[in-house]
Amino acid sequence: MKLGCCYYPEHWPEDVWAEDARRMADMGLSLVRIGEFAWSRIEPEPGRYDWGWLDRAINTLASAGLKIILGTPTATPPKWLVDTMPDMVALDEQGRPRGFGSRRHYCFSHAGYRAECRRIVTALAQRYGHHPAIVMWQTDNEYGCHDTVLSFSDAAANGFREWLAARYSTVEALNTAWGNVFWSMEYRAFTEVDPPHLTVTEANPGHWLDYRRFASDQVASFNREQVEILRKLSPDKDITHNFMGFFTEFDHHEVGRDIDLATWDSYPLGFLEQFWFSSEEKRAYLRQGHPDIAAFHHDLYRGCSNGRWGVMEQQPGPVNWARFNPAPLPGMVALWTLEACAHGAEFTSYFRWRQAPFAQEQMHAGLLRPDSTEAEAVPEVRTAAAVLAEIGPQQPVQAAAALVFSYEAAWAIGIQPQGQSFRYLELVFECYSALRARGLDIDIVAPDADLEGYRMVVVPSLPIIRKGFVERLAGLTCPVMLGPRSGSKSASFSIPAGLAPGDLKRLIPITVTRVESLRDGVAEPAQGWAVTRWREDVAGDLVPELSDDAGRGVLYRNGNVRYLAVWPDRALLRLLFERMADEAGLPLVDLPEGIRVRRTASHAFTFNYAAEPVFAAHLGETLPPASWHIAPL
Ligand code: GAL
Repeated sequence: MKLGCCYYPEHWPEDVWAEDARRMADMGLSLVRIGEFAWSRIEPEPGRYDWGWLDRAINTLASAGLKIILGTPTATPPKWLVDTMPDMVALDEQGRPRGFGSRRHYCFSHAGYRAECRRIVTALAQRYGHHPAIVMWQTDNEYGCHDTVLSFSDAAANGFREWLAARYSTVEALNTAWGNVFWSMEYRAFTEVDPPHLTVTEANPGHWLDYRRFASDQVASFNREQVEILRKLSPDKDITHNFMGFFTEFDHHEVGRDIDLATWDSYPLGFLEQFWFSSEEKRAYLRQGHPDIAAFHHDLYRGCSNGRWGVMEQQPGPVNWARFNPAPLPGMVALWTLEACAHGAEFTSYFRWRQAPFAQEQMHAGLLRPDSTEAEAVPEVRTAAAVLAEIGPQQPVQAAAALVFSYEAAWAIGIQPQGQSFRYLELVFECYSALRARGLDIDIVAPDADLEGYRMVVVPSLPIIRKGFVERLAGLTCPVMLGPRSGSKSASFSIPAGLAPGDLKRLIPITVTRVESLRDGVAEPAQGWAVTRWREDVAGDLVPELSDDAGRGVLYRNGNVRYLAVWPDRALLRLLFERMADEAGLPLVDLPEGIRVRRTASHAFTFNYAAEPVFAAHLGETLPPASWHIAPL
């Protein structure tokens, strides 16, 4: 695995570039990502390109032996461009423009902006498409960051109408699919349909689901336009996009199909602070991040683009954007780096080289401080580089367990949660974490992935069942788990004719007759575990495999297929996965709190995420806080 950093030559006097490049190489870095926000310097006036500085920056970095990842600058359109077409910005759900003055101020549906993007990408690719030091392109930067997937602009509304016409052909078909007779929401023409915002109460969920699908398709086609240009003008270079953490607003599997490798931006401490973790977890892992946060995304993004992936931005110190921004425990930057390698990353690149003394991110650490002295992470980068050199290249292997992840499932559940604590991403993460805490390696895969060869398959929840999914599951002999709400919606967001779990009844003959959600803090007990948040009444001839103390069925089983009819607490997940692993003949270990393992084809990695020393029984050794143990298999 290579190491790199994110660098902004346009932020620094030209006379420090060569020294920066020399220091990068000396630190063990061989990759540098540049350019993704530099539009105003590349094209200071409409049509006047200033390539001089970028040519010199690229050549300076290349002279130090660094290879370059060049970003297309379309996340930051310059002021003059926005002023030529003020309607290119997105409108928020309240209809307010998301204007100039930060970044991502554009609407994915605006044809004029798309043309400008094609123009700037073409110009860049013509200039640098064959430069020997450039090894990779990054399209844009973090699609969707700052809540920018959905826009309610005129361009988006018109795009949506066209999208609907293509999907439904007739407006009658749309009315039927959404059930618009309910509340007299029927339309007479596609031109009458608006985006689903500014309604008095919630808009039709079918309307919302299609709006989300449309918005996701717009992101994919925006990206594809850039990819097509880059493929033509720079055919030998890899293309990536840097995705985010815990982010489901567009279908990353779809975008992943168009690029050569998926990359993601890893900020474990910020994510722990910003997401659903309990205050105990936030305290225990304050300076380390929850032990499954980084790994979850490594395994998710490996499944997004044919197995090739990397970390484009790695947190090297405190960030600036979470509610609270602690510093990593000494050792964590090296640990995160080596963990990416254990999961098969091609590279890890730190964000950023030098902390900026100006503008929005001046409180965000870099590898260097603003005065160019080395910040705390640097010795750890050197350590990681040395360990990587010692262990050599690592090959990922197919994991024992597959976890099926669906962006559409996240949208469907988010649109109509029917209980505010039913969060799809959290349910998937809980399943992932429960499997990993028992020492299993996991591949997180798309619903249309090939599931052959896995020893167990976990589908945490999949409301909408696509063509071919049931057949693929039916072909498996390994234990399969289907989670709550699976098969509960049709493609147009209605209850399936024969009730849930719809087409999944071909795998397990049950019918969900009623669902209920439980407020936070309610736990309906059983022997050693409890039902929380959600439960379903299930009818059919199957005797439940597990029931709670009140005698209500919780888990149903038909041969190798199980249906879990509740939101499980951790003890229930543990019990369930123990049974599945036992049937699969998969050995489980009981890893102590904070310890995680991961195997490549050649090595077994163990990481201690705890803030104190922990005895790892599987090694017979005590690992210090924020440390790792790597052994050949
Ligand atoms: C990412 C983004 C970077 C920088 C970083 C700060 O989301 O891609 O440009 O803003 O966060 O942590």
